[in-house]
Amino acid sequence: MNDSDILLRPIGGFFGLGLLDVPPVVDSIWQAWMSNGRPAVMAWTARAALKWLIDLRRPGKVWLPAYTCRQLATAAPQSDLRFYPLTCELSPDIPFLQQHVRAGDLVMATNFFGWAPDEEFIASAAERPDVIWVEDRAHCLWMERQPWASWLLYSPRKLLGVPDGGILITQDRSMFPESSWGSGDAAVAIPELMRFEDRNEIDNSTWHAAFRCREARFSAELRPMSHLTAALLRRIPLRLLVEARQRNYRFLAEQLSSYQAWQKPVEGVAPFGLPIMTENAAGLSAALAAERLFCSRHWASEDLAAGAVEFRWEHSVAERLLTLPCDHRYDEAGLKRLVEAVRRLAPAPRLDRNGRPLKIDSLSARLPQCSPVATAGGIAAL
Ligand SMILES: Cc1ncc(COP(=O)(O)O)c(C=O)c1O
Repeated sequence: MNDSDILLRPIGGFFGLGLLDVPPVVDSIWQAWMSNGRPAVMAWTARAALKWLIDLRRPGKVWLPAYTCRQLATAAPQSDLRFYPLTCELSPDIPFLQQHVRAGDLVMATNFFGWAPDEEFIASAAERPDVIWVEDRAHCLWMERQPWASWLLYSPRKLLGVPDGGILITQDRSMFPESSWGSGDAAVAIPELMRFEDRNEIDNSTWHAAFRCREARFSAELRPMSHLTAALLRRIPLRLLVEARQRNYRFLAEQLSSYQAWQKPVEGVAPFGLPIMTENAAGLSAALAAERLFCSRHWASEDLAAGAVEFRWEHSVAERLLTLPCDHRYDEAGLKRLVEAVRRLAPAPRLDRNGRPLKIDSLSARLPQCSPVATAGGIAAL
């Protein structure tokens, strides 16, 4: 057999997955994401795509929000990594960035829970074209607002049932996708396939263990996104998913308004989930899980890469914030069980001095606009 035989496409034999027999749709998630630019890189994880950008642009420093998952921090060399604080609305702290960020640095800012940072930050970023701005869209299925950064980073498996992916989109229309890393790993989809075949979703300990195993294998190493993820993103229409998120978010927000971490309008965004504030997010998450209600923490304090001493406020948010799912898998009837369980298991939300429920902006903080209240024990909720 010579080389040309190997390159010939086989005819006959068993069928591969029939997914490609279903044509892509015009209003796909893929199409919506690509309308904001071009794919610069499609890696197996967002952190790998970020590392690719860091290797390409060689920034002086890489700045990440102090409140974000530690996996992202593995994209940058330790010596170049820096963290910046957030405001009580989870927007980047502008005076801090103005003071510390130098020309040629890379700054990543997250659209937390699906909302863009505040307009003041976006305006200040626009004044610094000497900085490499990256918009972290891992929580962001869709947003009406135009991108505010020249690089957009997606991690699709956090938003829908695809196994992997870290898609970096560039506004530079002359760039072509990096495609030199061979093909994806078929085993990456095993957790999703296991869950898919368990039609009544009874055996969650088995497929969740497989999921954890797969997540532990993910890294910032440069490996390609699976064709399966790309094929699904091209075939799943966006609109119904966005509408379901908006509808479910409204329902949860109305039912659990006193627990809600913040009040933000749902128009123009596809919320990632309903962030709620509770005295003890770890305890509530475990109690809900015992009732087969699985709510993620974004993120547990031990999952933040930024130091707990320097970033006390961000760590105190991590102790209290829990994300309730509002995605397309659910409707109001399904979410009623979650609402009832939260009300029963979480102590009634603490009230501030004015009788308002505890909100993210009423956590004691270093920022003056958050009205910090000093207590003997240091950080305490108002
Ligand atoms: C907001 C956010 N951005 C980026 C990432 C990194 O994504 P990935 O796991 O695809 O590297 C995470 C990881 O959890 C995340 O939560």
